[in-house]
Amino acid sequence: MNCQAIKLSEPVAPPLQESEGRFHIVADCAPVLFWTAGSDSLCDFVDHQWLAFTGRSLEQEIGNGWVKRVHPNDVERCLETYHSAFDAHRPFEMEFRLQRHDRKYRCMLHRGTPRIDRDGKFMGYVGSAVDVTDQKRADVQLAHLQRLASLGSLAATLAHELRQPLAAIKSNVNVAVHLLDSSNPPIDELREIISDVGADGDRANEVIKRIRDFSTKRKTRVERVRLNSLISDSLLLLAGDALRRGVQLCAELAPELPPVFGDRTQLQQVLINLAINGMDAMANTEAPRYLTFETKPTGDNHVEVAVKDCGSGIEPDVLPHLFEPFFSTKGEGMGLGLSLAKSIVESHRGRIWVENNSCGGAMFRFTVPVVAEQARER
Ligand SMILES: Nc1ncnc2c1ncn2[C@@H]1O[C@H](COP(=O)(O)OP(=O)(O)OP(=O)(O)O)[C@@H](O)[C@H]1O
Ligand SMILES: [Mg+2]
Repeated sequence: MNCQAIKLSEPVAPPLQESEGRFHIVADCAPVLFWTAGSDSLCDFVDHQWLAFTGRSLEQEIGNGWVKRVHPNDVERCLETYHSAFDAHRPFEMEFRLQRHDRKYRCMLHRGTPRIDRDGKFMGYVGSAVDVTDQKRADVQLAHLQRLASLGSLAATLAHELRQPLAAIKSNVNVAVHLLDSSNPPIDELREIISDVGADGDRANEVIKRIRDFSTKRKTRVERVRLNSLISDSLLLLAGDALRRGVQLCAELAPELPPVFGDRTQLQQVLINLAINGMDAMANTEAPRYLTFETKPTGDNHVEVAVKDCGSGIEPDVLPHLFEPFFSTKGEGMGLGLSLAKSIVESHRGRIWVENNSCGGAMFRFTVPVVAEQARER
């Protein structure tokens, strides 16, 4: 939801004290925490619900007092968003963790909107905060289940990838045992065999690590992410399945792509969902079947990723429903891949859309903002 700047209505505006009183009554009744700040950016009011939530007094919360209850890891990002919106008199929306009276941190969705009086003068901000912790947990759970489902479709080929190094280890061990039984075991040859066993062990370990990283359920972890290397990792995860389906994976990645801020596993989930959809769409296409990942910086401090297939393309009647949850045209599809991709991209403050390629097939594109200091340097 985008907040609009509040313009106090003209003829029927009650006296200021009365309208403020009404605002405070409404604020105290709504299942939302409310606050206001003056034009100096300092908090000058929080409602009873806010005080009940934090278990603190109004005196403790006003001014900059409320910042004391923001999770230490969120303070910098929170203040940067708050002050940059404030300086530009822009509405803002952000999530940060706020400590409740029982010392537990809850994830709160905060929205703020500038207050402009009837002469157009900036009066400060009015804002709200809603506890979205339970919804976030449900989202994490759903995303996890969907990742397991997509791993399910990759499982056969991943098992094959594991079997190869394990088989090599087994046969090398047999040879080594045989050589050790001889009267004069060839030390150099045995050393070489043992080093091959080590290398195959590492290969198997890599496959397991890739699966584990993708399938483990964990809280959202925001970090600097290099999308080019995330795509390379995803290609490794997809390689076996692509081979089985006769799909050639291609990557046209812009060099020196700025990093983005995000959750690696979630962004990888978007890439894998788009890739599996692309490969599904090419099931009945004549070879060669190409699935191409592209990256490029946009002019407005975002990175854009495209996943392009040469499959059936998107039918016009399907287009409006693509990103709806549980919409699927596949016999065994859950219809969750794209709706999750959309919510992940949007929670990263990006955008996702699709278009048909002029030469057939679909191209899904999404953007993610680059890390703030990179944006400033550009
Ligand atoms: N690359 C594509 N080309 C053509 N149609 C597509 C493509 N990607 C998605 N679609 C259409 O969008 C629908 C929704 O996709 P979505 O990924 O959400 O669900 P799904 O693939 O059917 O199931 P799952 O939950 O297993 O991903 C698909 O059923 C398909 O009809
Ligand atoms: Mg899908």
